[in-house]
Amino acid sequence: MVDLSCKYLGLSLKNPIIVGSSGLTSSLENLRTISKLGAGAVVLKSIFEEQIRYETDKFLQSDNKSMKSWQDTFQDIVSKKEFYYEEAYDYLTNYAREHTLNQYLSLITEAKKEIEIPVIASINCSTQYDWQYFAKRIQDAGADALELNVYLLPSDFERSGTDNEKVYFDIIREVKKFVTIPVSLKIGYYFSSLANTALKLSETGIEGLTLFNRPYNPDIDIENLQVNASNMFSRDSEYMHTLRWVALLAGRLNCDIAASTGIHNHETVVKQILAGADAVHMVSVFYKNHFGVLPEIIGGLQSWMTAHNFANISDFKGLLSRKNVHNPATYERVQFLRLFSSVE
Ligand SMILES: Cc1cc2nc3c(=O)[nH]c(=O)nc-3n(C[C@H](O)[C@H](O)[C@H](O)COP(=O)(O)O)c2cc1C
Repeated sequence: MVDLSCKYLGLSLKNPIIVGSSGLTSSLENLRTISKLGAGAVVLKSIFEEQIRYETDKFLQSDNKSMKSWQDTFQDIVSKKEFYYEEAYDYLTNYAREHTLNQYLSLITEAKKEIEIPVIASINCSTQYDWQYFAKRIQDAGADALELNVYLLPSDFERSGTDNEKVYFDIIREVKKFVTIPVSLKIGYYFSSLANTALKLSETGIEGLTLFNRPYNPDIDIENLQVNASNMFSRDSEYMHTLRWVALLAGRLNCDIAASTGIHNHETVVKQILAGADAVHMVSVFYKNHFGVLPEIIGGLQSWMTAHNFANISDFKGLLSRKNVHNPATYERVQFLRLFSSVE
């Protein structure tokens, strides 16, 4: 019998399959299902730092009869800060009205009472200002770990790469002042030197890096001459970008690596672990097929391990990382020169 158990962020997981942060992980009912169907852990839907600041301001103003509308409060919050986040506005208008911080904390506490798998809370953040105390409340509510979802699009012509990268380090430093639970950082791939930055981030004391968040990308409708939203969900072919970076970074960082994006079946779970991932986050596949596929994916991983005589996850983790393959250039190569020349 193979053993799927593993360590991630210092936590003991019964398998490396984590249901990643999304709307699917914001209700107790879904968390029960996720746990019952055998996931290794779950990352809760993120709360936004803007919500933390908004509710704090609201609370401070609660005795004031001329209390501002929440939209004004929100505008005040964003106008004072360095980053304006379109997502934050959407989030506050569409989600945060029904989901307060107290509900988030109750969800953690209830989940910890009812489900057996580790519960990782999540905060979506883009500045180091005035919200980190809430990380402590998340810890006190019982979360096993905290994932910080930081996605900065480097589109500001006035800001250098160094300015942008500093934000990540500032956020970690501030959060680490408040919590002792493991912290992981979920990032995108817009860094001028991803390997170097990932290494430095891994030396800040965080326990894990999640590679990568999947950005919302705009598309253009050429009939109606409009800019539209692209697909919200990943396809099962989208895992390769992450695979390359997991393979390049595995065994070189001072923290764990979770692979995220385009992981839809047990085959890609196996590939990410062979590349060196300590765990995988899966989301779109559950939107497309619901959680019923979880046992199938776990069973597939088990069968693959049995067929290849691997008794434990650690027996094959990183076996095909850049560090361990005979021809590391395969991971470094970005142009298909040889292939191109043979294609007519
Ligand atoms: C509807 C939806 C909501 C999401 N919400 C969050 C979120 O609150 N926080 C977060 O870190 N990631 C969020 N994500 C991103 C996912 O956690 C994941 O990183 C991304 O979807 C790529 O994984 P996948 O290819 O398995 O879907 C969301 C994704 C979807 C589709």
